[in-house]
Amino acid sequence: MNKARILGIGSAVLDEIWEIATYPQEDAEMRALAQFQRIGGNVANSLSILQQLGHDCHWCGPYAKDEAGASILHHLQAQGIETRWAVPQENARSPKSCVLLNRATGSRTIVHHRTLPELPAEALRPIPLADFQWIHFEGRHPSETRRMLDRCRTAAPNCPLSLEVEKPRPGIESLFQGPRMIVFSKAFAQARGFQKPGDFLAAQWDQVGAALLLLSWGEIGSYGQARGGPLQFVPAETPSRVVDSLGAGDVFLAACIDGCLQGLSLESLLRRANRLAGYHCGRRGILGLIAEARAAGIC
Ligand code: FRU
Repeated sequence: MNKARILGIGSAVLDEIWEIATYPQEDAEMRALAQFQRIGGNVANSLSILQQLGHDCHWCGPYAKDEAGASILHHLQAQGIETRWAVPQENARSPKSCVLLNRATGSRTIVHHRTLPELPAEALRPIPLADFQWIHFEGRHPSETRRMLDRCRTAAPNCPLSLEVEKPRPGIESLFQGPRMIVFSKAFAQARGFQKPGDFLAAQWDQVGAALLLLSWGEIGSYGQARGGPLQFVPAETPSRVVDSLGAGDVFLAACIDGCLQGLSLESLLRRANRLAGYHCGRRGILGLIAEARAAGIC
C-alpha cells in the first residue's frame, strides 16, 4: 500500500444531529429519538477516512477560538490528523450544521450556518507544500482558492491536486485549471442544466486541465472519465438498511483519492469508492469505518 502525506484544505464543522423517527411537517413539534454531536465538514470527513486508510493527513482550514473550535481541533488531533496549519480566526464563531437524521430512511437534511471568515490564500505560506504527495481542495471561495492552487503548482509542481466541486458558486470555474482530479456532485451538474452525467462530463473537458473527472450520482452510482478515455459507470452499493448517509460523499471522495494513490484503474477505483460509501451508509458515523470495512472484507 502506498502511504502518502496528504494536505486537505477546507472546512471543519460541528454537526449537531437530531435523529428522528420520521421527517417532520413544517410547524410541527416532535421529540427526537437521539441527539448527539459529531465533527464534520467535507474535508474533515475525507481526511478522517484517508487517515484511517493509513495516510499521514494534515488539515488546513479556518477555525474559531470558541468551544466548538476547540472540539474540532481536539477531534482531528485525536485521530492523528496534523492541525498545525489550521488558522485561528479572532472574534469568530464556529460553523455549525443542524442535521435531521431520519431513522426511517437514513436521509440527512442539513441546515448549515457559517459566519467564519474563509481561509485566506496566505495560510499556505508557512506550509512545506513540496513535502506532500497529494493536496486536496474544497471548491469554495474561488478567488482565494485560485491563489492557493497557483501557489501549490509553483511550490510543488509534481504533487497531484484534487478539487471537490459540490455547489455552484460564482466563479467556481476559475478553479478548473490546476487540479489533476475533479470530483463533481450531481447537484452541481444539474444546476448547470445537465440531466445526463455523460453529457455533463463531456462538456467539461474544454474548460478543465484535469486528467480525471469523477461525478457521483447519488443512489444511482458514480461516473468517471479519464481525458480521452471512455465514460465509466459503476452502480452504487446501497446497504439493505440506510442508517446514516451524512458524509457519504466525503467517504466516496476520500476513497477516490486513495484509489489514485494506489494506482487503481478507474473502474476499480469507482467500485471501491462506491462500496465504501455504501458501507458507510449502513452504520453510524465515520470513526472506525475502515477497520470495520476491512473486517467485513469490503476494502
Ligand atoms: C457532510 C458535511 C457535514 C457538514 C456539511 C457541511 O458532507 O460535511 O458534516 O455539516 O456537510 O456542508
